[in-house]
Amino acid sequence: MNFPNILIKWYLQNKRDLPWRKTTNPYHIWLSEIMLQQTRVAQGTPYFFAFTKEFPTVFDLANASEEQVLKLWQGLGYYSRARNLHKTAQYVANELNGIFPETYAALLKLKGVGEYTAAAIASFSYNEAVPVVDGNVFRVLSRYFDIESDITVPVTKKEFTALAQELMPQDNPAIFNQAIMEFGALQCVPKSPDCSVCVFNDSCAALQKKKVAFLPVKSKKIKVTNRFFNYLILEDILGNTLIQKRTSKGIWHNLYEFPLFETTEVIGFDVVAKAVENDIFSSYTILSIEEFNEATVIHKLSHQHLHIQFWKVKIMEIIENGLTINNLKTFPFPVVIYNFIEKQENNC
Ligand code: ADE
Repeated sequence: MNFPNILIKWYLQNKRDLPWRKTTNPYHIWLSEIMLQQTRVAQGTPYFFAFTKEFPTVFDLANASEEQVLKLWQGLGYYSRARNLHKTAQYVANELNGIFPETYAALLKLKGVGEYTAAAIASFSYNEAVPVVDGNVFRVLSRYFDIESDITVPVTKKEFTALAQELMPQDNPAIFNQAIMEFGALQCVPKSPDCSVCVFNDSCAALQKKKVAFLPVKSKKIKVTNRFFNYLILEDILGNTLIQKRTSKGIWHNLYEFPLFETTEVIGFDVVAKAVENDIFSSYTILSIEEFNEATVIHKLSHQHLHIQFWKVKIMEIIENGLTINNLKTFPFPVVIYNFIEKQENNC
């Protein structure tokens, strides 16, 4: 038996029962594939159920507010995916009468839909013979065929796409695409795969050459920036506080946060006190400033490590349009801030 046949046989015996595999509805497939980018199935699945329940059709998603969409997306990360999802839903609903494009080339034109997602929708919904190439596919093919091309350079993607295209049974692209991704997720895993039980253990080139741990080749390391966030939790005599929308470009765009004092290192009381009194909250009368007693929270994003400290700032005046802690929870927050709010609520 050849590679695709063994792979598909393995898939039919080992596949997980996942909700988006029971449908060809492009709206559902699109939702699931956007959610699963940079996200594990176990983490993404509850969001898939929540979105399809709250927004059963692309029109429902289009008619929601961006804030509603971000709130439901809260915790899934990479929030530009949610904002693009919403814009694309509006485009499909309003400009295409709710009908998704039916070809790879046309799908590719949608905002937030790249080569991988277009190939997934085109194959799963419409049986177009276009291969998906994601991290799983790079790993499986680089090992099976012992390909040492650097997967961080764009031309390598072309090489793997051409190979996958050649391997893919033209009469059943959907199952081949699902199978290769599933094989990468369950068997040919990045670290310490159990090759002794692998269906390819007599034909995998990397296994024969003892190169499994070194493939795929990935030269560029992600450069991580450290950032230092001091969140200032204002509290007036009514117990109300203040939040703001992050309108700047970059992480957490259009999500909410407490007033932020960003610094170049972890700071102590004196630095915060000076900034709060002389600058950030100079229009208020400060009664006290204290750090919440937990240690600095380190929140790791793909390219940034955030070192977060929370400071309580009590003031004499009443905050205009102040919010109670219960009101806060309806706004979309980065999950690290939401967790902080929940903790405070439980401490009350
Ligand atoms: N990851 C990305 N797309 C997937 C899919 N359709 N099934 C399982 N995992 C995935």
